[in-house]
Amino acid sequence: MKVLSIFGTRPEAIKMAPLVQAIQQSPTLQSVVCVTGQHREMLNQVTSLFGLQANHDLHVMVPNQTLNGLFGRTLERLDTVLTTESPDLVLVHGDTTTACAAAMASFHRGIAVGHIEAGLRTGDLRQPFPEEMNRRVIDSFSQWLFAPTAQAAANLAQENLSGQVLITGNTVIDALAWTCAILAPGSEHDLALCAKYPWLNPDKRLILVTGHRRENFGHGFDDICTALAALAARQDVQIVYPVHLNPKVRDVVMARLGQLPAIRLIDPLAYLDFVWFMQHAHLILTDSGGVQEEAPYLGKPVLVMREVTERPEAVDAGTVVLVGTSPQRIQTEVERLLDNAAHHASFCRRINPYGDGHASARIVAALAGESVNEFQAPPQH
Ligand code: UD1
Ligand code: UDP
Repeated sequence: MKVLSIFGTRPEAIKMAPLVQAIQQSPTLQSVVCVTGQHREMLNQVTSLFGLQANHDLHVMVPNQTLNGLFGRTLERLDTVLTTESPDLVLVHGDTTTACAAAMASFHRGIAVGHIEAGLRTGDLRQPFPEEMNRRVIDSFSQWLFAPTAQAAANLAQENLSGQVLITGNTVIDALAWTCAILAPGSEHDLALCAKYPWLNPDKRLILVTGHRRENFGHGFDDICTALAALAARQDVQIVYPVHLNPKVRDVVMARLGQLPAIRLIDPLAYLDFVWFMQHAHLILTDSGGVQEEAPYLGKPVLVMREVTERPEAVDAGTVVLVGTSPQRIQTEVERLLDNAAHHASFCRRINPYGDGHASARIVAALAGESVNEFQAPPQH
């Protein structure tokens, strides 16, 4: 069976990398990889780490791209690849414009679609925007619905979809486990990263920040910057913020926070470096989906700067809290984690509701027609 894996953004590349590797090792599956290039620099940071070689690159990214322009370029350019390659199955990941456009292009060509990370829902089409819509569209016609968790599978069951549902765990845990294995304390990579970031101050507690969601553009990012500026007045913290390359994020963050000595604004980090920073963080402030899944595996507290999440498992387990973008709420919750050791410790339990490192193997086995034991999350204490 010829399987065409398509991805274009940083998180998709991280989450598709272990799966592509597993497909390439399968004796029954033939692997073809197409990158859309929805992200350029941030995609390259991932493909080089995992040694991914693309057979096709659609080069769709333009600065300040619009959703419709991006969707149109992806749909049209992918059509040529689909007709040239004639795959039996197209695999897409998650909720991006790349994923939705690729799934629709395949549907139009009568090619089966497998959706990795199917079934995530907030129930609100505006949050995250436009990702919630993208997920629902892809799930509506995919033949394979690879749900990461039992909750995601339950969401799909409620919608009476025709695709086959399999609970696999999230491939991000496959990628993270692999990365952690090469980042052991004292390892060659660990020592190289210590030398690469000499400005990281071990006497201060590290607050790691990321943010890029469209629904936070404008007021949301302004409020986030207000909260970070207030926290930067503390003497006992160092804030490190790898700023997303989107100018709608970058312009406001650089203008508001660029001059504060306690805040280090840096370019997006390569995945290896970012995982290392997560390992060293006292807490993480983010609006990212993937970071919400990774931090519980690392036993790190996460405050999520969103009103709702499609990843409720770690919130239910008590290691992730939704704080929205209100400056007061962010500041209060961060200071509670900094000033109350028992409260912080209660967040630091390592929990694995999102995967066990074998998601890619389950997906490949299912595609090869083998029987598969679904992922079961360990009980949370
Ligand atoms: C996209 C996804 C989002 C995902 C996020 C991960 C959609 C609708 N959104 O949002 O679901 O969580 O990626 O980061 O698909 N840019 C660069 N170089 C890069 C990457 C981005 O210059 O390597 C700049 C470009 O100006 C681009 C802008 O960032 O126009 C926004 O990128 P885009 O992919 O449109 O949206 P994201 O906010 O990254
Ligand atoms: N990440 C990274 N470098 C960074 C910030 C994040 O490699 O500077 C990784 C992070 O570990 C996670 C993924 O990027 O696996 C999340 O990407 P993003 O937040 O852009 O997208 P989302 O997960 O919200 O779709």
